[in-house]
This record gives sequence, C-alpha cells and structure tokens, in this order.
Amino acid sequence: MGHNITITKTEASRLATVDFDNIPLGKTFTDHMFICEYEDGKWTNPRIEPLTLIPTHPAAMALHYGQAIFEGMKATVGKNNTPLLFRPEDNAKRLNLSADRMGMPEIPETLFVDAVKQLVAVEKGWIPPQEGSALYLRPFMYADEPFIGMRAATSYKFIVICSPAGPFFTKKIRLFAETTYIRAANGGTGEAKAAGNYAAAIVPTEKAKAKGFDQVLWLDANEHKYIQEVGTMNIFFKIGGRFITPSTDGSILKGITRDSVITLLKDKGFEVEERPITIDEVIGYHKEGMLEEVFGTGTAVAIAMVATIGYKDEELVLPEENPVSEDIMNTINEIKAQKQEDPYGWIIPVTE
Ligand SMILES: Cc1ncc(COP(=O)(O)O)c(C=O)c1O
Repeated sequence: MGHNITITKTEASRLATVDFDNIPLGKTFTDHMFICEYEDGKWTNPRIEPLTLIPTHPAAMALHYGQAIFEGMKATVGKNNTPLLFRPEDNAKRLNLSADRMGMPEIPETLFVDAVKQLVAVEKGWIPPQEGSALYLRPFMYADEPFIGMRAATSYKFIVICSPAGPFFTKKIRLFAETTYIRAANGGTGEAKAAGNYAAAIVPTEKAKAKGFDQVLWLDANEHKYIQEVGTMNIFFKIGGRFITPSTDGSILKGITRDSVITLLKDKGFEVEERPITIDEVIGYHKEGMLEEVFGTGTAVAIAMVATIGYKDEELVLPEENPVSEDIMNTINEIKAQKQEDPYGWIIPVTE
C-alpha cells in the first residue's frame, strides 16, 4: 500500500445498528469514504474520513455536462475472515478507459487499488458474513469545477463509498429485446461506464418492467439486430454445446465477470466464440431446439440465468435446466469465498 492515505475514523460507528440478515438494497452505507481531489493537473489529499455530505457548487460541471463515471466491485470474506477483492486492477483500468472517453483525468491504478484496499480494511466489519453477501464498493469520479461552458472541467473528485449487500435473489430473469430505444451507438459512450448511459436506460427499463420483464436486452443502434448486452450485465448463449457472447466492439461494456466467465468456460473445455450475434440467429437456434442456456454476467449477481426473451410479439421460453450456468456460478462464488482454489490470481486479499 504505497500511497500516503490519511485516515480519520468516526467516533460514532453505525455498524451495530445494521441487521445483516435484512439489508435494504443500496440504501445502507458504511461509516467511511475515500476521497481525493484533482486540481492543477494532479490528484491531491487522498484520505479516508467519516462518510458525509459533499458541498457542491450549483455550477459543478458534472451536473450540467455529465462528466461522471463509476465502477462497481465487491469485497467478500475468505479464509480466516480475510477481506478479499476480485480483480481490482481491472476496475482501475476500466475507470481510466471511461475517463479517457469522457475527457476526464486518469487516476493512477495504484492509487485506485490502495484506496479500495485501505477503505475495505477500515470497513472490514461491514462485510456481511452470510454466503453470497458482500460489501459493494462504488468508486466514482465527477467534474466539480463551477463553470458554465462546454469544455472538459479542470477539477474533479474521486470518491469510494461502500454499501453492504445481501445475497442477490437468484431467480431467473425475463429479458425484453428492445427495438425502439437503444443503449449505445458506435462512436458513442457505450464502452465507458458513464453515468449518462444509465440515465438513458431508465425509461426503456421501466417500460420493459411494465410489460412484465425484468431487464432490457439491448440491440444495436443501426439495425436493431445485433445483441449487445443486458441492463447491467453482459450476455452468453449456449448453442449446440458451445458458447457465444457478443464481441465488445466499442459500444458494449467490457465486463470483468464476462472476461472471467470466458476463462472459466474455456478451462472447463467449452468452445467460446466472441462474435456478433443477431436476435434472428438466436430465434432460429431456439426453433431448432439448439438454444440450451442463456445467462447474464455482472458484478452484482455474478450469473443471472435467463428464463425467457421477449422480442416483438414472441417470447422465447428457454430450457428449465441450466447445468453449465449453475456450475460457472458456483465456481465464481466459491473462488470469491476462497472455497475453491484461484489459479488465475483474481483474488486479492486485503491485509492491514
Ligand atoms: C452496462 C453493463 N454491462 C455489463 C456489466 C458487467 O460488468 P462487470 O462484470 O464488470 O460487473 C455492467 C456492470 O458493471 C454494466 O453496467
């Protein structure tokens, strides 16, 4: 832990008030946050301090021009109650990819990883002990320079907050393949984890939910034909014994779970094709009885099995059994809990 991060601990921890068997999703925050500022071309004053409100100028540029990006990751507990992180350097790299696309400053990867590690060390008691639970970490960066005018801001904040998360309900999901709205176009910001991408998804997702679906399955912007990804997940199809996942072509978020699942599937002997795949192709395979399993991958749920896909007036009903998806889900969860060996070096223990 090479960076000099000042730590100020709270004198009034709220930890004792939290019922870990009943955690409302995304509403509970831990005692502390990491924060640092970007000014005069460098990141300054990295510190961990009690979680508090942040004074914001009404002209802060993020509020007007949308320079805001984020990451999502989880801390779990492994053997001997050691906190564990999963591939944190990859989140640091992806935040910097997002920063490049949005005209924001990169943050040194080592500072990102140290910030997350030291915050997790301070908040160790907040990692829910129950299997499948985790401490969700939300690193984010936004432009806080007060300025009205269209250019990149000159000052930013990078902050990490934490929220304990109970086990995600592993019910199968119903996807709605969207043919009116789009998530991302080539040349746009789809590959960045930019706040605005999620704002644009709110109305289509609400409309899909009103039709009885859980999430949107995004299709490409030009032809509404090529499958991209799901709300906050990448997607995999098992077709005739092999797996196909859309290639990340610049408009799809490069999921870290996606990358891990490709590695696990290949190590388990499956062929994995990363290539463009159309909704018509998927429907064709389904008609031939070759569409065997479909699942989404993402940090929040690890693996979410898909029950049905709605497209225009059809709804494809997928097979009940998902043996490979289940195996991959167990493998990832067990690696994250140190119940299975991690031959890939994905797990990073947090030692004080
Ligand atoms: C749009 C989108 N796609 C895919 C993913 C999955 O990425 P990861 O596996 O890194 O969580 C996420 C979640 O971060 C997402 O928001």
